[in-house]
Amino acid sequence: MFNDIYLNKKVLVTGHTGFKGSWLSLWLKSIGAEICGYSLGLPTRPNHYELLKLNIKSVTADILNKEKLKKTFLKFQPEIVFHLAAQPLVRRSYLEPVDTFMTNIMGTVNILETCRSCESVQAIINITSDKCYENKEWIWGYRESDPVGGHDPYSASKACSEIVTTAYRNSFYDNKTLIATARSGNVIGGGDWAEDRLIPDIVKARSNNKHVEIRNPQATRPWQHVLEPLSGYLQLGQKLLEKNKDFAEAWNFGPADTGNLSVEYILNSLKKHLDIKVKFTKINPDLHEANHLKLDCSKAHSKLNWKPVWNNEEMISHTALWYKQYYEKKSVLSTSQLEDFTSKAKEKNLEWAIK
Ligand SMILES: NC(=O)c1ccc[n+]([C@@H]2O[C@H](COP(=O)([O-])OP(=O)(O)OC[C@H]3O[C@@H](n4cnc5c(N)ncnc54)[C@H](O)[C@@H]3O)[C@@H](O)[C@H]2O)c1
Repeated sequence: MFNDIYLNKKVLVTGHTGFKGSWLSLWLKSIGAEICGYSLGLPTRPNHYELLKLNIKSVTADILNKEKLKKTFLKFQPEIVFHLAAQPLVRRSYLEPVDTFMTNIMGTVNILETCRSCESVQAIINITSDKCYENKEWIWGYRESDPVGGHDPYSASKACSEIVTTAYRNSFYDNKTLIATARSGNVIGGGDWAEDRLIPDIVKARSNNKHVEIRNPQATRPWQHVLEPLSGYLQLGQKLLEKNKDFAEAWNFGPADTGNLSVEYILNSLKKHLDIKVKFTKINPDLHEANHLKLDCSKAHSKLNWKPVWNNEEMISHTALWYKQYYEKKSVLSTSQLEDFTSKAKEKNLEWAIK
């Protein structure tokens, strides 16, 4: 996989205790990388990173702490950095706009500034979001060339993180250190317990035998299993480590066209696997949330030969099964699901899986 580029590679992952960072660390570990994680403490209980018991280097600190960042980088000497640490929730960003802007913008600045002074760093992938685009509520997918923007503090902070990255790429980095940004859709999968997200809300309500409150059943999002964008981030990292400077730019890694689904569709599909009780509630008009959001991933399809691996049903069934096994048997299916995912990618002849 990934041309064996990650074997014995020193990889620094910010946000490794979070949902996506923990899956990324599991995957990197399974392909032989030496990992150092850098995050605040565990963001949820239960927590996927804790359940995985990965035995990697783990630094508990804030990305706003420049001294600690510098010390960690100089000691570990990473060759590639995946930056995922962020305040990632739209609704929390309305309650804590200053912290959201600080973490997501100045945090990015601190990471890029630290990388500048660390000779070993050859590649950086900054994980932003589908929400970084100026949302026009239209039916078409956003392309990498569309303007960034953001109605709410979270979206605006991710748009700024994109702009900061472009400025650092243009102003300070030569071809020795290549930087890309990655924008994915709404990810689901086992091991997420964050607040105000559809699947965690459902499984938490279910485990307490309560109704899950649904605000906007008709809202559509680019839903995808967490392993899908991670395969894109890792493939992009491979290209940058191979010194391919044409890839040092922004990339969308969203679902196939058929993956832009309504909340109601996700609920009904999950109901086939889990018994769920639903209560519809009113939307708070003061907290604007996008209704339609879609990514155009033609660039990743044609230039990286990157494509989603699982279809909608596989995305839902793997997610449902993960939580079922966790709540009923206390077993963690992450490693076996990663194996299923990579085998299916090989069957589909995806470049990252077969070379
Ligand atoms: N989950 C999604 O659907 C989704 C979609 C698009 C983009 N993203 C982006 O992917 C990244 C990871 O998201 P996630 O869903 O895993 O979030 P998460 O909340 O599960 O994890 C966030 C991680 O960041 C760390 N963190 C937060 N503030 C920090 C700080 N000041 N200093 C150091 N560490 C800090 C947390 O400790 C945690 O490890 C984020 O950048 C997010 O914006 C997520």
